[in-house]
Amino acid sequence: MGKVYYISRNVGLGMLVLAISALVIILALSIAYNKERAKNQGQPRNGASDGSSTSPPLTTPFTPTEPWDFYRLPTSLIPESYNVTLWPRLQPNAGGIYVFTGQSDLIFRCIEETDLIIIHANKLNFTMFLGNHAELSGLGEATVPAIQKTWLVARTEYLVIQLNGKLTVGASYVLHTEFWGELADDLEGFYRSEYMDDGVKKVLATSQMQATHARKAFPCFDEPAMKAIFNVTIIHDQGTVALSNSREMDSLDSIIDGVSVRVTTFEPTKKMSTYLLAFIVSEFISIQSSQSNLLIRIWARRKAIADGQGEYALNVTGPILQFYEKYYKVDYPLSKSDQVALPDFNAGAMENWGLVTYRESGLMYDPTLSSIGNKESVATVIAHELAHMWFGNLVTLRWWNDLWLNEGFASYVEYLGADYAEPTWNIKDDIILYDVQNAFAVDALASSHPLSRKEEEVNKPAEISEMFNTISYNKGAAVLRMLSQFLTEPVFTKGISSYLKTFAFGNTVYTDLWDHLQKVVDETPGLHIPSSVHEIMNHWILQMGFPVVTIDTQTGTVTQNHFLLDPNSVVERPSPFNYTWFIPIKWMKNGVDQQQYWLLQKTDVHSSMRVSGKDWVLANTNVSGFFRVNYDSDNWARLLSLLDTDHQAVSVINRAQIIDDAFNLARAKIISTTLALSTTKYLSKEKDYIPWQSALKNLGYYIVMLDRTEVYGALQAYLKKQITPLFEYFKTITSNWTKIPTGYSDQYNQINAIGIACTVDVEGCRELIKKWYKQWMENPNHNPIHPNLKSTVYCNAIAFGGAEEWDFAWRMFQNASLASEATRLRSALACTKTPWLLNRYLEYTLDPTKIRRQDATSTIRSIAGNVIGMPLAWNFFRARWSEIFQQFGGGMFSFSNLINGVTRRFSTEFELQELKKFKEDNQHAGFGSATLAMEQAIEKTTANIKWVTDNKAEMLKWFTEHTT
Ligand SMILES: *[C@@H]1O[C@H](CO)[C@@H](O)[C@H](O)[C@H]1NC(C)=O
Ligand SMILES: *[C@@H]1O[C@H](CO)[C@@H](O)[C@H](O)[C@H]1NC(C)=O
Ligand SMILES: *[C@@H]1O[C@H](CO)[C@@H](O)[C@H](O)[C@H]1NC(C)=O
Ligand SMILES: *[C@@H]1O[C@H](CO)[C@@H](O)[C@H](O)[C@H]1NC(C)=O
Ligand SMILES: [Zn+2]
Repeated sequence: MGKVYYISRNVGLGMLVLAISALVIILALSIAYNKERAKNQGQPRNGASDGSSTSPPLTTPFTPTEPWDFYRLPTSLIPESYNVTLWPRLQPNAGGIYVFTGQSDLIFRCIEETDLIIIHANKLNFTMFLGNHAELSGLGEATVPAIQKTWLVARTEYLVIQLNGKLTVGASYVLHTEFWGELADDLEGFYRSEYMDDGVKKVLATSQMQATHARKAFPCFDEPAMKAIFNVTIIHDQGTVALSNSREMDSLDSIIDGVSVRVTTFEPTKKMSTYLLAFIVSEFISIQSSQSNLLIRIWARRKAIADGQGEYALNVTGPILQFYEKYYKVDYPLSKSDQVALPDFNAGAMENWGLVTYRESGLMYDPTLSSIGNKESVATVIAHELAHMWFGNLVTLRWWNDLWLNEGFASYVEYLGADYAEPTWNIKDDIILYDVQNAFAVDALASSHPLSRKEEEVNKPAEISEMFNTISYNKGAAVLRMLSQFLTEPVFTKGISSYLKTFAFGNTVYTDLWDHLQKVVDETPGLHIPSSVHEIMNHWILQMGFPVVTIDTQTGTVTQNHFLLDPNSVVERPSPFNYTWFIPIKWMKNGVDQQQYWLLQKTDVHSSMRVSGKDWVLANTNVSGFFRVNYDSDNWARLLSLLDTDHQAVSVINRAQIIDDAFNLARAKIISTTLALSTTKYLSKEKDYIPWQSALKNLGYYIVMLDRTEVYGALQAYLKKQITPLFEYFKTITSNWTKIPTGYSDQYNQINAIGIACTVDVEGCRELIKKWYKQWMENPNHNPIHPNLKSTVYCNAIAFGGAEEWDFAWRMFQNASLASEATRLRSALACTKTPWLLNRYLEYTLDPTKIRRQDATSTIRSIAGNVIGMPLAWNFFRARWSEIFQQFGGGMFSFSNLINGVTRRFSTEFELQELKKFKEDNQHAGFGSATLAMEQAIEKTTANIKWVTDNKAEMLKWFTEHTT
């Protein structure tokens, strides 16, 4: 799946709300992990929404004994092909329910003797044949045992067929079923989505099968290794279009059961996994192009396509597919590529083979209304999904425990694919901000987990869902990038290509990839790695966490330690390697690249790293390894002085990483806070986006902790001093703000420059945005604000305006027809500093006619992100607690995130007492799905109090000294 944990590209850090994404992820991950732990220890679970409510109470442990008690299919039968016909009804039936009907003929082969057929089926109702849910016949000579009885098992989602006699090994049979199910709006399996088209409500049917929902569309062997060929037929209303994984063979009008319909049949698919199937019936239209024999189409709502929003996606798809054909040295395996933008979609995107589905924001791009960040999302999400067409779809991991390899790989090569389509963007560098640093943040917690899990540990659908997390996506990407860098790119791609060719249309385990890489390594003269690919990579995937490498340049001593953000945390999880790693260290001395050095034990002496005088050492060049670096204080001083005098001598991403490492080493109490702050001193000379973004992400925590204390004045003055040159730089290159910079990094950093400059009141900034906003208010049909800058300008104009500015934005919010514009306005409305406006806005969040229910919690969070709004949101939250709890208490993440958001700034003893009292007062009713979030809020507040107490005086002194 694409980017479930997608962090949207820069939307403007000037929103006063900095560095929130990383914290949210940390919390989400620890909740997921703690939930898992609670389960394993057999403690009662809280919260209603983890999908396993059908399992029996834990007080009487359920012991599986029968074959249908297990979540994994028996190995006796394998599918060969399916004829599947589906007929979704886009009008409700007499009972007001939307349904689909279907039938399936499945040819399967018996490979071990059995008298049972166990096949997945979930939430399906069956037509009965002589009292049975299915009919069985034979292919060829085999005798066919009669069906004794059939039944459904809800817990493990099976249809079970007990036969009177045994099936013959080697023989093939046909299982016929007819069934129907609800076409619900639940975003799973075959489901319904609705949208408005020129004021008319439209209904469409679409699907999301990953991970375990194909069984909700038709009975099937719903495991990734049960690959088969699918002959799909879709019956649909005339005037609608049906799409599936392969090309349509023919489409004929017909009358079925007295209804005029169209029957579309599709070419047989390639041999493929059920989770990659897709079926769509809609009134969408498309634009297309072709490349050799390959048909490329982009589908969306009529209006979106008519407005040209699909053009960018069409423009980049051809080049991206060409890139992967060259990269993998394997042709695109199918004869068409459809990509569809859906109005309702849970994940970011889904790599169904030949029919990729996206959220609208992942595929649609409007040159006049979308920002550079929207454009980058489209290019990278497409590149991610298309990478899966080979890696994941053509060759598929056998089971979900290896999900990290599938998602980590796509999350890595998406940057290569997008870079090929947009070579001027330098997009490959962005992996540092969006994957590597996010993985560092989550993997530095004692509650993290290894990338790889044992196959037998992942069984239930809920356990499979848990695999889709930051570790799988972001750490997976970071570790594979490291592998590619130490093997070298040509060796890595040769191994990938050999792996894909060997296992095409089949299934693998991750060690198969290591074997193919090793083969290429063995064949490559001059390439030396200190151990096998297998052994090196085990250190990175079988144990959680990552090392901090400390280089003492006075002695040449190099040491590694498991890096933990909280030095007092206790690691309970044992490691097969005692938390040491095989670390490839690329490094440079005085700007000259040195030979890669491998640290293979806890500590070592590498004498060429011993330097003195003005000589400096920089390790982990190009951030090619997944580890942090610390130095002796002399080398730190030399690096700081280098940044100060000639920052270009260090690459952009290493500049960003020096900052990120220093701030995190300080959080972990390995170096001083003042040393971390010193890495930001050179920023007054920095123009590049990535180092600035890295610094602002890290300073975000400082701002949130300090913006109500006496330190804030000094911090603000310091930021003002640092940002002013950047603001002036953009003023010049945009000819006094009359155009948008051409460079990609410049476009991003302009957003930071204006956002921060206005927040800290750099001269000319607030006047500038007030002027733009005023022009828009005077002529609402003509918005003069460039899409890149809208989020920042709206927020600042509302923050420094009054009721008139607020009311105007509210009107524009209500009229917005583009989803991303509505989202920008909704969060900007939370930026006002006027208490009564904030209180009124809080009230609006509980009125669904004003703020849609799905947006309520994120709106309250935005208000709490505002320093003035925080206490108001906390009061509102307590006063309206029962109402809020009733409305949102069931929804797992949004509710936890609400508590997390409202308490994020808590850093005083008084707030801690209030929080504890609130918890006590409401203990009787509990906190539902946010029980853990409540505990963590208390824990975090305690940690924040300590951090502020320990660092406040020192920071005040530092900021004051560095401002004057
Ligand atoms: C699906 O079509 C293929 C190709 O025509 C055929 O070999 C296969 O038997 C069909 N499957 C079923 C279940 O009929
Ligand atoms: C599958 O459909 C094809 C085409 O309609 C038909 O020829 C074939 O017999 C069907 N297969 C089975 C097993 O019913
Ligand atoms: C399927 O059967 C169940 C149980 O009999 C019934 O409650 C449900 O409404 C049926 N679903 C549909 C879509 O007919
Ligand atoms: C798509 O490509 C065409 C031809 O190169 C170009 O004119 C057009 O501006 C591009 N559209 C977008 C949205 O990038
Ligand atoms: Zn993916």
